[in-house]
Amino acid sequence: MSDQPGYLPEVKQQYEQYPYPPRNPADEARRLLHAASGNLLVINHHCFAGKRDFRSGFRALVAGGGTGDTVIYLAEQLRNCDAEIVYLDMSSASREIAEARARVRKLDNIRWITGSIMKLPELGLGEFDYIECCGVLHHLESTEAGLQALNSVLREDGAIFLMLYARYGRQSVYDMQALLQTYIPAGLSMPERVRMARRLIAALPPSNSFIRNLDTWKHEISPNGNGDIGLYDLLLHSKDRCFDVPELYALAQGCGLQLLGFPVRQHDYDPLNHISDPELRAQLSQMDPPRRHAIAEQLLCNIDKHEFFLARTARRAASLDDESLSLRSFRTLLDNAPKLAASMVPGKTLRYADGETTLQIPCTPVSKLIYAHMDGQTSLRELRRRIQAAIPGATPAAIEKELQQVYAQLHPRGYLYLIEAGKYGISVPDYSKLDARGAE
Ligand SMILES: C[S@@+](CC[C@H](N)C(=O)[O-])C[C@H]1O[C@@H](n2cnc3c(N)ncnc32)[C@H](O)[C@@H]1O
Repeated sequence: MSDQPGYLPEVKQQYEQYPYPPRNPADEARRLLHAASGNLLVINHHCFAGKRDFRSGFRALVAGGGTGDTVIYLAEQLRNCDAEIVYLDMSSASREIAEARARVRKLDNIRWITGSIMKLPELGLGEFDYIECCGVLHHLESTEAGLQALNSVLREDGAIFLMLYARYGRQSVYDMQALLQTYIPAGLSMPERVRMARRLIAALPPSNSFIRNLDTWKHEISPNGNGDIGLYDLLLHSKDRCFDVPELYALAQGCGLQLLGFPVRQHDYDPLNHISDPELRAQLSQMDPPRRHAIAEQLLCNIDKHEFFLARTARRAASLDDESLSLRSFRTLLDNAPKLAASMVPGKTLRYADGETTLQIPCTPVSKLIYAHMDGQTSLRELRRRIQAAIPGATPAAIEKELQQVYAQLHPRGYLYLIEAGKYGISVPDYSKLDARGAE
């Protein structure tokens, strides 16, 4: 083993004093936090073509697991099987909170390790099917070396999830970080730095770029949100690196990995969803995916983090072509899809409002049946057969078109996934007790 600690001392000190994100273990009794990176439906769909059976021999590593959001969510879904979930973080204060959360939930399927990601090749933990590393590698001395360390313990057919800061959507954060670096004298304690930062922010003129974007960051820094811990993490961090889309592709390539896709804001990473000018659309359609993703990021300017899957070999996500798969609704449609189907009147458009998302759902006899079967049980083969039997006039081509339309509307917004029929196995938590950690 090398003598180097494998982490930056100032970064470790921050997370020992300010474990991130702030969590109260008692909250576990009333809600379960969820995020795409820990959602087995999302993981299965994007990384395993919908066919992974998580019930036997599945091994997951949550690297830089912090105060436990993802490890708890994964462990909760994998409660009743032999899956092993390993939590690794260099901050013992963070681990204490994560462990306390697991105790409240009586979870005993997590192995807890305090240590550095950089030591993974030497820790003897074996290989993993899935590695989740959210908001960590941009705080390492070298993001590239961190990703290599993760890759060294990835199973050949496994997948990695990364969240890394995004350049354009965080521009106002970097402006503010620069101002604070100039303004706050060296040598102050962490609480003193936070106090000075708060005073300065409160006094800033409206022209300041951070103030103009304050709504985006309010939760992160406000006392009702992530408070001093969030403010320090956002504005006073000693190591904070961001990436644009071409840099993500270069990072992946440098480690011999392929970028599988962006599971969270999928819709946003395609400029065709934001541009209506026909000439521009024609040009954009000719471009390869990396260039299109890069343009989408630059034209939107509001992607503040990149969330994406990586694997050693390029592979297709689950697709409607695979007849053994079934439709599985998620988010608020998890329990509501059959109710929605029952209320659909053919010929009308149903308005489905869910937080900031509003869907206009065209109702037809076919779409009504599709919504009635988003159960993870009925294979697409059987669904097509049932639709044809119930609606004799519906041609296979017409059924296909409607399936594609429903899928195109729901999947990129996280409402619908494809999963092998009847093989999902794991427990889908009660949605009414789920709290979104971020946009999913
Ligand atoms: C911003 S927090 C993110 C926590 C968690 N992944 C989440 O998204 O809620 C970053 C975490 O990475 C951990 N970390 C940073 N560098 C590390 C390293 N070299 N090895 C292990 N953990 C590290 C920190 O201790 C901290 O808990």
